[in-house]
Order: sequence, then structure tokens, then C-alpha cells
Amino acid sequence: MEGIEKVCEFLDKTQTYYLATVEGDQPRVRPFGTALIYGGKLYIQTGKVKPVSKQLAANPKAEICAFDGSTGVWLRVSGELINDDNRDVKVAMLEKMPQLKSMYDPDDDNTQVLYFKDAVATFSSFAGATETFNF
Ligand SMILES: Cc1cc2nc3c(=O)[nH]c(=O)nc-3n(C[C@H](O)[C@H](O)[C@H](O)COP(=O)(O)O)c2cc1C
Repeated sequence: MEGIEKVCEFLDKTQTYYLATVEGDQPRVRPFGTALIYGGKLYIQTGKVKPVSKQLAANPKAEICAFDGSTGVWLRVSGELINDDNRDVKVAMLEKMPQLKSMYDPDDDNTQVLYFKDAVATFSSFAGATETFNF
């Protein structure tokens, strides 16, 4: 399995991760759950009206963190989150996460998907050994 697939599988398993952005010199963080591999890239989903979207438009640098309590392993992925207006990705995201369909539609002006560029993904645990992947 490739690193990006391991990352997405981990995010699917933990269900919730925390997405950090920057607003000026102020870190911002919030829970997220969307994750999809499409065309070899790792995507997340949000709404363009949200502050998180505006922060990423001004500064795409971001980091996510998720923790798997059943194994004691945590994951951090840092990189840039880049907007992608490709409708097919939005459709695929809503298909994978159908609970989003009550709030989002690929053809509204709000639904946004972004992919990680220059991502560094690190798995860590208190036991030591970390694994790092770049994608
Ligand atoms: C478990 C969980 C998962 C969430 N997943 C997402 C998500 O994938 N995308 C999203 O836009 N909002 C998601 N939200 C809602 C955001 O956390 C919420 O809208 C937040 O206020 C967005 O950050 P902002 O206010 O800085 O824009 C999720 C909330 C929870 C509790």
C-alpha cells in the first residue's frame, strides 16, 4: 500500500481529524472528517463560505492531526491545501460521504474540495518508530 493510501485509510478509521490553518499570526483549528483519494491526490472538503476556506485562500499552509486510540498511533500531515474546481472530484467526495448531501451539492457555489500539495505525513506513537511519507 502506498503512503497516501495508508494516510487516507487512517483518516477513514479515526473518522475525525483536526485541521489547523493560519490567520495572520493566529493558528486556527477545528474538527474535520472528509478525506478522499482521487487522481492520486488526497482531498478534503469544506464550504467556501467558511472562515477555514478564506484562511486557506489567503495562506494554503495547513496541518492535520488524527489519533487512533485503539493503537496509540497519531498522524500528522502538513503541506498546502490547494483548491480544485473539478466537478468530478466533488461528486466523488459526496458519493464517499453521502451524509454531506443534505448540506452540499457539486453545483452549488459553496462546495469546495482541496488537495494536499507537498505533503509530509508522519505516523508516530509513544513506542517510538515513526513512519514518514511524502506525496
Ligand atoms: C466530527 C466533525 C467533522 C467535521 N468535518 C468537517 C469537514 O470535513 N468539512 C467541513 O467543512 N466541516 C466539517 N466539520 C464542521 C467544522 O468543524 C466547522 O464548520 C468549523 O466551524 C469550521 O471551521 P471555521 O469555523 O474556522 O471555518 C466537522 C465537524 C465535526 C464535529
